[in-house]
Amino acid sequence: MAVDIYKGLVRPLLFSGLKTDPEWLHKTTLQWLGALNERRDDASMAWLRQQIRHRCSYVDSRLNQTCIGLQFPNPVGLAAGFDKDGAAAGLWSDFGFGFAEMGTVTWHAQPGNPQPRLFRLIEDEAVLNRMGFNNLGAQALAARLRQVNDLEGQRLSEHQQAVSPLGINLGKSKVTPLEQAVEDYCSSFKVLKDLGDYFVVNVSSPNTPGLRQLQAAEQLTPILSGLQALNDQKRPLLLKIAPDLTDGDIAAIVEVALEQKLAGIIATNTTIDRSNLKTQRLAATGNLVADEAGGLSGAPLRQRSTEVIRFIHRETQGQLPIVGVGGVASAADAWDKITAGASLVQLYSGWVYQGPEMMRHLLKGLVEQLDRAGLDSIHEAVGIANGS
Ligand SMILES: Cc1cc2nc3c(=O)[nH]c(=O)nc-3n(C[C@H](O)[C@H](O)[C@H](O)COP(=O)(O)O)c2cc1C
Repeated sequence: MAVDIYKGLVRPLLFSGLKTDPEWLHKTTLQWLGALNERRDDASMAWLRQQIRHRCSYVDSRLNQTCIGLQFPNPVGLAAGFDKDGAAAGLWSDFGFGFAEMGTVTWHAQPGNPQPRLFRLIEDEAVLNRMGFNNLGAQALAARLRQVNDLEGQRLSEHQQAVSPLGINLGKSKVTPLEQAVEDYCSSFKVLKDLGDYFVVNVSSPNTPGLRQLQAAEQLTPILSGLQALNDQKRPLLLKIAPDLTDGDIAAIVEVALEQKLAGIIATNTTIDRSNLKTQRLAATGNLVADEAGGLSGAPLRQRSTEVIRFIHRETQGQLPIVGVGGVASAADAWDKITAGASLVQLYSGWVYQGPEMMRHLLKGLVEQLDRAGLDSIHEAVGIANGS
């Protein structure tokens, strides 16, 4: 059996030995990927990309799927928050991702919350973050994506979809009062609408004061209808929701989503729940995890996000596509979400803990799951554990 260098050596060294600051490590990784992206045509970089593809990606036509009007080479994407400013846009498919979501981006550039604001809970295979939408703003992301498109040779020319879809996740700027949220989301969408294959309205981050109140139907409707009115090219628009909602809240959101002709729901964002954690205190602050602000992701979120997927799938009889996210770290985790009703899944924390070769194992494992279930295509697996 091949030695997993990341889990056996790199991760213990970075996380436990050197105790690297998580935000520093994340920033350094993105800088490195950004440099690789800029110099993608250099012979040495082209070689490196080929090596990455060889070690990290896995191609099998049984994982292809058309969903929300787009073609996906496989159903597993990079979740929002990792590449907020599009530093490595265009590179994520090399790491095996079937799609990647940039952002959250806000209309105004903003620094986010004070540091420290990103923590590993190693024993729990979890991450706690209160980044607060640190990003360079919608106009900077638009400029970055145009530059990447030029590098890639106009990936989004008329109706010609790129090999692996790119999503853009929109949030509200902190300085914008909640009453002006519609204009804030619409301003970002206006400058970005030609540059993403799909768009996400994020009203579910726990780290922007008041944001989650926008999940209430009377707040949500004007935001979604304002965006749809601008959506002349009919790009798929999805809504990302929190895991901390009641069934009644979710049912009301689903109704609005159907009314506003959304392409789907992304379930879920991070949780404010702190139950059943092994980690009691954060080493970086000395405080009890229960007392620390922020959203929790990774293994502790896994079951709850799957429950939300199952609920939405049942509520809509499978009529509204679902992107499942929360605690996916293996093929079995992705399979649970797909069979509960998710057409696509995303991950973030799993990649941090499992390392860059994770996607190859995960995708291979999904094909094995298809074989075991006697199915020919991933599409056939959606919702099968949920009575449809
Ligand atoms: C450090 C960090 C930053 C995040 N930033 C965002 C964000 O900007 N927008 C967003 O919609 N979700 C954000 N998320 C949430 C993820 O997209 C995802 O919904 C959540 O982490 C659950 O997936 P996971 O368990 O695979 O990490 C962030 C997550 C982490 C760990």
